[in-house]
Amino acid sequence: MRFFVDSVDIVEIKKLTELGLVDGVTTNPSLIAKSGQNFLETIEKICAVVAGPVSAEVAATDYEDMILEGRKLAKIAKNVAIKLPLIENGVRACKTLASEGYMVNLTLCFSVSQALLAAKAGAAFVSPFVGRLDDIGIEGMDLIDDVVKVFSNYEFSTQVLVASVRNPNHVVEAALMGADIVTLPPSVLWKLFDHPLTEKGLQLFLADWEKTGQAIL
Ligand code: E4P
Repeated sequence: MRFFVDSVDIVEIKKLTELGLVDGVTTNPSLIAKSGQNFLETIEKICAVVAGPVSAEVAATDYEDMILEGRKLAKIAKNVAIKLPLIENGVRACKTLASEGYMVNLTLCFSVSQALLAAKAGAAFVSPFVGRLDDIGIEGMDLIDDVVKVFSNYEFSTQVLVASVRNPNHVVEAALMGADIVTLPPSVLWKLFDHPLTEKGLQLFLADWEKTGQAIL
């Protein structure tokens, strides 16, 4: 399973990259708006530190402008994945951009039928949003389970990129279901380390080591 980081925070992305935990990055307009950063410059900076796919989302909703914006974003770096919304024009633009050799991430996927459209359009990634389904009382992980099954029934090459991840359980469940990728906010990624018995066990080992009076170096 690959880990993407859902963030535009370059400091955080670098820190996680140095740990060897970042296989790619996803961004979205809300993250950019919240950060106050320049979008194109941010994508360029992220692509300079991350070798894997970096999703950059178009702002247009009409086909022609989606194509123009997508091509412009893809020019920033070879590892840019053009992120398009899973609407009619997005699917059409995906087909065109994918046939030109670009990586496309179809985002805002909330149903198996939408995921099928993404696969048919040749998307490199489809992003089903788990947390936002949970928020409206629908089990988000059920969608992941279904999409993974359907894609494997037909050996679609589109990768399932689990998005809107809110906690480590989402990550573990996605792994058990065989999803290709999860994109995690840094706060969730750091939480993957946590277990009270690890901390307790380490403190005990350190205290016992101290009693031995020995040194390794
Ligand atoms: C993924 O590509 C999206 O940017 C992200 O996962 C959305 O998460 P949210 O629902 O927490 O905003």
